[in-house]
This record gives sequence, C-alpha cells and structure tokens, in this order.
Amino acid sequence: MKIAPSILSCDFSCMGNEVKSIINAGAEFVHFDVMDGRFVPNIFFAPDITKSLRKFSNILFDIHLMVTDPINHIERFALSGADIISFHVESKSDVNKTINSIKKRELKPGIVINPKTLPEEIIKYINDDVYMIVIMGVEPGFSGQKFIPETTEKVARVKQIIEKINPNILIEVDGGVGEFNIKKLREAGADVCVSGSYVFSSKDRKKAIKLLKDS
Ligand code: DX5
Ligand code: ZN
Repeated sequence: MKIAPSILSCDFSCMGNEVKSIINAGAEFVHFDVMDGRFVPNIFFAPDITKSLRKFSNILFDIHLMVTDPINHIERFALSGADIISFHVESKSDVNKTINSIKKRELKPGIVINPKTLPEEIIKYINDDVYMIVIMGVEPGFSGQKFIPETTEKVARVKQIIEKINPNILIEVDGGVGEFNIKKLREAGADVCVSGSYVFSSKDRKKAIKLLKDS
C-alpha cells in the first residue's frame, strides 16, 4: 500500500517543511488538492506552489483537480512538475480529450469518481492510457470528513472491472482514510491511500505512515 498524504491538511505557514516531513516519514506520493470554488465549495492552490515545492524531491506529485473544466489546467500543472494528474468524471471536460492532453505531456492520467458516481459509469473510459482510478471516500472539497463506509465495496467493484480491462491500473482511495479502515481498503483492492488529517495531525508522522502501511 502506498501512502499519499494530502497537503490540504498541512500547516500552510511552513509548507516546504511540511512536505519535507512527509517525504522523510516514508510517503510515496504527495497529494495536491486543487479546488476552484465552483466544482467544489472551497478554493485552494495554484501550480506555482507545486513548482516551488518540486525542488525538495523527485517524489511523485499527485495532482487532484477538483475544478469545473480540468482540461484548461493541464498545461500549467504539467509545467509545474506534476507526475499524476487526476480529474473528475463529473467535471465538464471531455474525459477522453483530457486523458489525451495529460498523456501528450508524458504524465499519468487518473479518473476520479465522487461518492454518488457508480463504477459502471467509467467503464467506457478505462483503457491502457489510464494510470489510476481515484475513488472518493468523502464528498470532495474539505479534509477531515468522515469516511463513507460504502466506499470499500466500491473499491472491490472497480477492482473487478479493471482486472478485466487493464489490471495495471492503480486504485487510489481519497479521503477519510486512517488506521481504522485501511486494512479493509487494501483487501478490497486499493493500491494507494490519500490521507490528510490522519497523517498531518499525528505527532509522529513516520509512525503514522508505518502504521497505515502495516495495517
Ligand atoms: C477532499 C480531498 C482529500 C482530503 C483528504 O476533497 O480530495 O484529498 O484532503 O483529507 P482527509 O484524509 O482529512 O479526509
Ligand atoms: Zn484529493
């Protein structure tokens, strides 16, 4: 299981040190939540921030676009040092065109589904170009929310679907993840878990990440 701490929960007064701390604590990805105040009711963060944090490490930068028209933001995130760019199937952009735009820049595309979106709705987009499916464990927009228990079954269903089409696709679960639910998510087929408040509120982040991985 790979751990992707979300910097939405970090202390913004010392963002650089916060990113360094999770890299040193054993995280494999750094998860960046991008919000436009339209697709979700919150606003957060521009590509310039990713660019300035890029100098600390080559760790995978996992960009989660919670924006109305993600295709318009691919170019600037690509130039800012992104590795994975995930966008919502519920957004306005054409899914295939957005995947192509990410691939064209030699980055890894991810498709995100909201809690109310059924796995069956993304079957038609799954092919060899897709790197990751992101399953929201909370409604997008805020960290620190309670995990929606039905997510675990959804992970198992997505796993079944991708096994038939492209078993190399990773499954990431985003939101509400902690030591209390990560074991079940792993058993259901999750490969990466995004954890914001759980990791950043732990006194010992190394221990917290180890606990998540060992669970
Ligand atoms: C929710 C974000 C998540 C969130 C995770 O909109 O996409 O990445 O920050 O935070 P926790 O782990 O606190 O739910
Ligand atoms: Zn996220």
